[in-house]
Amino acid sequence: MTILVTGGAGFIGANFVMDWLAAGNEPVVNYDKLTYAGNLENLASLKGNNRHIFVQGDIGDYDQVLQTLAQHKPRAVLNFAAESHVDRSIHSPEDFIQTNIVGTYRLLEAVRAHFTGLSAPDKSAFRLLHVSTDEVYGSLGFEDPAFTEEHTYQPNSPYSASKAASDHLVRAYHHTYGLPVMTTNCSNNYGPYQFPEKLIPLMIHNALIGKPLPIYGDGLNVRDWLYVGDHCSAICVVLERGKVDETYNIGGWNEMSNIAVVHTLCDILDAEKPRADGASYRTQITFVADRPGHDRRYAIDATKIDRDLGWKPAQTFETGIRRTVRWYLDNQPWVKNVTSGAYRAWVAAQYQ
Ligand code: NAD
Ligand code: TYD
Repeated sequence: MTILVTGGAGFIGANFVMDWLAAGNEPVVNYDKLTYAGNLENLASLKGNNRHIFVQGDIGDYDQVLQTLAQHKPRAVLNFAAESHVDRSIHSPEDFIQTNIVGTYRLLEAVRAHFTGLSAPDKSAFRLLHVSTDEVYGSLGFEDPAFTEEHTYQPNSPYSASKAASDHLVRAYHHTYGLPVMTTNCSNNYGPYQFPEKLIPLMIHNALIGKPLPIYGDGLNVRDWLYVGDHCSAICVVLERGKVDETYNIGGWNEMSNIAVVHTLCDILDAEKPRADGASYRTQITFVADRPGHDRRYAIDATKIDRDLGWKPAQTFETGIRRTVRWYLDNQPWVKNVTSGAYRAWVAAQYQ
């Protein structure tokens, strides 16, 4: 038996692949295009591990996906591959349309062609698990109840609209062609190997190099934060026990405003790696122009996955964020490598 993961060189995918191989013997085929966000250095600990098979490829390349499926015959395909950064989707939506919509469509077509040729027992065991986001549900007011799986899709950014489109395609491939699919919609992740364009790693990185900590708008936008290892464990549970054609919300029951997250990071850094001048990292906080169309609040109601599949997050924000800061402090060479070159051009364009 084997599974195929797309996007396994990115933040969540790499954590998933490492956790998967640490937990059992089943091999994993890791199919990744290696965009700016995909980094084989994330998988350096797997060097020489013959249960990790890396294939460089685009999910939009029907022939290569089909050939990879035919060669490795996975019992499941887990689709992590996506363009994932909202700010980039505002600057240049094209890549998001190509990968998240067209790419998912071509992946579905290849998986469908492969599935059609399977034996009856292999068909009944086969699953396609599509990894998606809570951002497809749109923005909540401060008093609104959290998103359940029944919440209307109201995506507001090119990123969330493209993920919503991919979710709809996945659903349609079950209803139209009988593909055994499941979808997960998760809240904001944080943890090791997250590219420092996203809030938490960007703030840790900027703090340590003495740069401003740019907070969009008033800093009161709320996100629900989940430690990446908990997202990965939830995906494993859905893969093994989830029902075909169901969607599962995954969240940390941990809503926080952006300013509260950044204050927490500054306080941990003040204790773990005090500034040479003795001042708090909080003095580096700077309020900058808001993100266009900035969603005010996301909150996940993760009751269903708890009730039906018995999954709960293992980390609290307090434990998860400490681990995360420690990881970034201990892995500065990784940060240095990913923040060179194209990353600098992005930061210059985004934050002027
Ligand atoms: P990431 O940007 O860190 O990694 C994406 C990976 O996909 C990279 O390795 C990249 O090389 C690969 N990729 C991109 N385009 C590809 C293509 N056309 N073909 C093959 N590979 C391609 O993203 P992430 O944060 O790890 O997110 C993974 C998935 O989880 C995404 O689908 C995202 O929408 C979803 N998600 C992310 C979060 C979060 O907070 N980061 C929360 C919920 C859901
Ligand atoms: P981000 O990590 O980009 O995730 P998402 O937009 O998918 O939720 O951003 C998290 C929150 O932090 C979001 O409300 C935007 C805000 N933010 C800042 O205030 N400053 C920044 O430099 C970044 C990258 C994000």
